[in-house]
Amino acid sequence: EHSGFETFMLKEIHEQPRILRALLEKHVSSEGQVLLPDGLSSDYFRKLNRIMIVSCGTAYHAGMYGKLLMENLTGIAVETDLASEFRYRDPKIDPGTLVIAVSQSGETADTLASIRMAKDWGCRIFSICNVEGSSVVRESDAVFLTECGPEIGVASTKAYTAQQMAFALLTLSIASARGNLSPAELKVYLDDLRDVPDAVHYVIRQKELIQKIGEKHHDGPSSLYLGRRFNYPTALEGALKNKEISYQHAEGYAAGEMKHGPIALINESLPVVCICTQTADEVYEKMLSNIKEVEARNGRIIAVASEGDSELAKLSDDVIYVPAVRDEFSPMVNVAALQLLAYYAARARGTDIDKPRNLAKSVTVE
Ligand code: M6R
Repeated sequence: EHSGFETFMLKEIHEQPRILRALLEKHVSSEGQVLLPDGLSSDYFRKLNRIMIVSCGTAYHAGMYGKLLMENLTGIAVETDLASEFRYRDPKIDPGTLVIAVSQSGETADTLASIRMAKDWGCRIFSICNVEGSSVVRESDAVFLTECGPEIGVASTKAYTAQQMAFALLTLSIASARGNLSPAELKVYLDDLRDVPDAVHYVIRQKELIQKIGEKHHDGPSSLYLGRRFNYPTALEGALKNKEISYQHAEGYAAGEMKHGPIALINESLPVVCICTQTADEVYEKMLSNIKEVEARNGRIIAVASEGDSELAKLSDDVIYVPAVRDEFSPMVNVAALQLLAYYAARARGTDIDKPRNLAKSVTVE
């Protein structure tokens, strides 16, 4: 049933390198151009000045990642919101805004309601979706299909990394269409993006080590996940995975917000998962000082670190080393470690991993 894996979720985690590779192959031409989805032209993107991304749950975390990438590389102002909030606010959106909906199922009620509203305002709708023929796809002007195959596990894994890859590809194509990236720069980014599938595979091959760490920390009442910048959404997604399948309370936080509240939670029994792989990124040093603050309060530090970073091993109780990839693309690699960490914590707690209590795969009512 699960092709030799004990659950669908574990199978789907393992499918990620292949899916990411296939997306790269399909969307990058032999001349090294990133192809735009049908219905969206370079000319359109040259004139565009605002993007609004709407989605729920894990797809919202993908949207947060997409926003960070796009605003960084395309020069377009990008906002993101939860579909359930977006639909009840007054976002002052005009027909010149491109609305991007992200959804695995394409049937999420709030996401659908949001795009219907945006259509009424005259906006174009682009969706990143996994199910061809779903409502979101049918109601969009242009679509990027993530083509992961059916995702059966209620906790989303492969759809998430495929959504991130979709944003990475889309960002590179928009940035080159707008002249923000020269052909030579685009080539460098694409070469770096091509490192991602193998890096994810490398993380998955460390599952026995991650299992030990997951089992060691599975029994506490709560855990904290910290990240910054591109890996702030990774922290939120890691905490969500943990909550969903292990029923252990987990909170994702922007590490810089620690002093504004969550630091009060830290004691010797609180596992704090710190995503700190961005050695070239200006936020790496900031992350490091946040980790030192946790250490000073005897928190149990589980670090996700770049290979070769021995500094972090000194500060941490446990380290998951991941291959160093370009900072912008590291969230796809890092989240694989957090998916497995949540997986093995849940397994140790004996929950129904593929069908966690109270959750539906697709939330078709508000
Ligand atoms: O099908 P969608 O991507 O629109 O679903 C959105 C959320 O319901 C979904 O990501 C949910 O949060 C998952 N259970 C997360 O693992």
